[in-house]
Formats: sequence, C-alpha cells, structure tokens
Amino acid sequence: MTHEILIIGGDGDLALRKLYPALFALEVADQLIDVGKITGVSRALASREDLLERMLPWLKSQATFSETAWLRFQDRITCLQGDATNPSTLEIFKQNCDETSSVIVYFAIPPKIFGAVCRSLKEAGLAKPSTRLVVEKPLGSSLETFLGVNAEMRNGFSEDQIYRIDHYLGKEPVQNLLALRFANIMFGAVWSNNFIDHIQITVAERVGLEGRKDFYNDIGALRDMVQNHLLQVVCLVAMEPPASRDPFMIRAEKLKVLKCLRPITADNVKKSTVRGQYTEGSVKGEVVPSYNEELNSADKSDTETFVALRAEIDNWRWAGVPFYLRTGKRMQTHKSEILIQFKPPKHVIFGAMHEMSPNQLRIQLQPDEGITLHFLRKQPGLEELTLEEVELNLTVPEARKKYSYDAYARLMVEVLKGDQTLFVSAEEVEASWQWIDQIIEQWQKAGMKVQSYAAGTAGPVDAAVMMAHDDRHWSTLES
Ligand code: BG6
Repeated sequence: MTHEILIIGGDGDLALRKLYPALFALEVADQLIDVGKITGVSRALASREDLLERMLPWLKSQATFSETAWLRFQDRITCLQGDATNPSTLEIFKQNCDETSSVIVYFAIPPKIFGAVCRSLKEAGLAKPSTRLVVEKPLGSSLETFLGVNAEMRNGFSEDQIYRIDHYLGKEPVQNLLALRFANIMFGAVWSNNFIDHIQITVAERVGLEGRKDFYNDIGALRDMVQNHLLQVVCLVAMEPPASRDPFMIRAEKLKVLKCLRPITADNVKKSTVRGQYTEGSVKGEVVPSYNEELNSADKSDTETFVALRAEIDNWRWAGVPFYLRTGKRMQTHKSEILIQFKPPKHVIFGAMHEMSPNQLRIQLQPDEGITLHFLRKQPGLEELTLEEVELNLTVPEARKKYSYDAYARLMVEVLKGDQTLFVSAEEVEASWQWIDQIIEQWQKAGMKVQSYAAGTAGPVDAAVMMAHDDRHWSTLES
C-alpha cells in the first residue's frame, strides 16, 4: 500500500526542523518507495516554492544531502494553504489523493486543536481504517487534560491508528537496550535486585529556554522531561522480558512498570525529590542569565528547570533498587546516560577492592552514543596481584555507522511500516501522568520551592544530598 503524508502545521518549527529533514533522510536512504505526496498544510503557507525554500537549509545541513535526492524529494512536496480545522481544506487534500493510498497525518500543531482537526478529518472523509495519526508531546499537562485530548482523538479513530511519539524511543542506544537485555543471557541473569545496587538516568542539557518561555514556564522539567522521556527509559530498563517482539506485548510490559512506580508521599517528598532553578552562571565559558532574567517577567517564577527523583518500583525484580532520575537545563554539560550500578561481590578476596567501583554498565545516549562495561582485572606483570579498573567498549565502531539517523527518521520508518512498538500507548501515558500528578500534588502540599543552582553546574546541592543520604553519589557529568 502506498502512503500519502499530510503534515498539519506544515510550515512550523517542528515540521521544518525535524519532520522534513527526517523524511529527506529517508529519501536519501531509499526508504520512501511506498510514499506518494508529502503535503504541508497551514494557514500561513504562501506557496510551494516558499515552503521548499524554507525547508532547504534544514535539509542541506544533513551530512548526506545530495542534489539528486533533493530533486526526487521536491517532486513529492505539495502544499495546501488553509485551516486544517475546517473540513473544506482537507476535502481539497482528499480530492488530490490517490483513493487507494493510506493517509498518514502528522499533527505538528498544539494539542488544543487536535480535537478540531480530528473532527475535520472525519467530515472530510479521511477517517478511514487505514488512516494513521502521528502526535507528540505535550499530550496534556496532567492526567485529566490528557484524557480530554485523547477522548477527542478517539472520537473517530481507534487506538491502533494513533502513533504517540516519544522521540527518546527513536534514539539508537535506547533501542539497543532491548537488544542488550533480551539477546544476551548474561545480562538477563544479573538484571535484578540480586545483582543491581541502583540505577541512574540522567538527561543534562546546556541549553536554556530556547525561545519557549511561555510553554516551559507553565510546565517545568518534571512534566517536560520526566513524564515522558525519562519514564519511557525507566520502562525499557525495568520491564520484564516480553513474550515476543509484538508491540502489544512490549507495551503491556512497559505499562506494568509504570503501574508499579511507588507513589511519592508526604513522608518522603522532601527526601526523594529535588526541584531546582538556574541562576546566572557560566556555561562552556559563556556567561548566561538566570532563568528569571531569561523569562523577563515581572514576577519571579517558581518553575523547576531541574528535577531529581528517587523512584522505586514495587515488584519482585526491583524491590529495594532505587532508580535515581535527574534532568536539568543550563547544566555544566550536555549528556544523557543510563547507568546500571551492580553490587560488589558478596565475598571479597582482594583487599583493595573496596576502593574500586564495582561493575557498571553505562549506556550513553548523547552527545556520543556508547555502551561501556566497567570491570576489574589484574594488572599485568610479575608483581603481587593488583587490580585495575577497565572499560569494555561495546559501542558500534564509527566505521560501521554509515550514517547516524535522527530519532524522527527512525520513528517515521516505523509509522510507514505500521509498527507501534516504538510508540506510547494511551494507557502508558495515563499511568505516567498519574505518577507525575501526585508528585506535583505533594510538592504543592509541602510548599516545596525551587532550590537555586548556578548555570553551568551539576544542579542544586540538595540533589547531591539526596544521594548522600543513601550513601551513593551521582555519576560525573564530565565527559
Ligand atoms: C523535548 C523537551 O521533549 O526534549 C525539550 O521539550 C528538551 O525541553 C528536548 O530540550 C531534549 O531532547 P534531546 O533529544 O535533545 O535530548
């Protein structure tokens, strides 16, 4: 079956920066064979030429840009000037569509108009069983608002027609987690509270508000990053082995993890959560303003730009293993990683071992992708047996990477295939919001204000104190 792609919000930031470049990368890789037209729709679109001109710089910034692929790609692009919430706009699209094609509709628009666009698709006769809707965060700002948006989408479309993007699931190392865990018996055997001491998931960013001040100030780090990206990573780390690679099986296992997250309560909210906000500081040698200065608002904001959490998963496999999550803006470095910290051997025969770090599996998501396994071995030589720490590098060598695809390109391939494995189910989003909502409620009840941290550092002191309470420490943010 061929597909027609309709991008609503076809000249917006998301479309220009991410969607056209992702589709173009697929053009270069000959992955658009089953795709017919790609149509951008927007009220403000002047002309097709204007759209092509605006997307070109983004496509040219790709390492694999080629003029021949660009000629092919241009042939697919059409544009429609109009309001997608008005069925007559979409009727024009339908008239130009090949009747036998399925339509993939990408919602590159704010969720507040998702419902109106769905109604318009229905009235224009585009709500066929073969139609696929692709949406992404923010999917609400609480459980209640998510249920509202979702109900509007479900009016006319079934769950298996909705592809909810979490772009972290399109990142190569995140996908590699499944291979690492379920294709290697040695990891399967030690993946539990018998052998793992704790897990850390860090997403540190150097950037600040990046022109999204209204959106971000309403939402903060917990809802912007933890509710979706970090919890999805938690799911992949903690889920039980699925019976098969069937999307239904994988999503069902992820959901169980979210349902086992222990609620944060009034008793532990101060010990298990930290809220931070950056003040003026220096990032990569450049002086940057505080969050409040960036906001440029008369009132001081209490929105968190950093959050650290100690999460626990109440099930047989993970009881007693804390999952420490942290994410922040304007931190000292740009680094995202998953650290699996194993326990030391139960019986020690080498005296110096207590000074060395027990086994660690480190999965770096960005800026560079990598997987390393840290362990101890004997130093070579005739001298008395002495241990040394070494890293076993499981990273794919550069020479084997033909081209590193952006998460969006990978996810678009899956939408074209009709495979929902890498997309988030409504039940998962619901369970995530449930957990996040109660943290926000506890913050409000406890009157927990943000702690300051200077831009360019590792976050507020309280984040380190949280770890110190447990006799642990965060992994370094230095590369
Ligand atoms: C987005 C958040 O979902 O993810 C942004 O809204 C954040 O605030 C971004 O900067 C981080 O994505 P990545 O892929 O750069 O880690």
